[in-house]
Amino acid sequence: MKILVLHGINLNMFGKRDPAQYGTATLADIEAALHQLAKELGVEVESFQTNHEGEMAERIHRAHQQAVDAVVINAGAWTHYSYGLRDALAILKCPIVEVHMSNVHAREAFRHHSVFAEIVKGQICGFGVDSYLLGLRAAVSAAAAKA
Ligand code: DQA
Repeated sequence: MKILVLHGINLNMFGKRDPAQYGTATLADIEAALHQLAKELGVEVESFQTNHEGEMAERIHRAHQQAVDAVVINAGAWTHYSYGLRDALAILKCPIVEVHMSNVHAREAFRHHSVFAEIVKGQICGFGVDSYLLGLRAAVSAAAAKA
């Protein structure tokens, strides 16, 4: 089983940005934790980070061709306004799990809305690095249920 983990805009700065919201783990630390869990679960994780919306759309298009089994996405601020990425994600037939390190509902109003909400299987937020790990577990079981 192959799970694609997508990291959007500014997420390469985890570890350096707003530790009160995001803690001190870097994207490399998150990746290491995801790969460790993937090993335990016996699945393959491939990940991708970009700060360019068009590049993210193209990576999602490739996921359609690759037929990945599930997607875990933290799109950062794009979550709140990118209809382009929502449309790209909507092309996929596999389950999509939206994750956020911070509890977006306890923050500014603009973060309370996700334009992906209607097309994802579910959302996990507020658990720091564990949001990704819970997201991976949810993606694996959603993909297994679909297979
Ligand atoms: C975030 C929450 C978003 O609102 C924010 O723009 C981010 C990170 C999170 O992981 O908590 O960049 O997606």
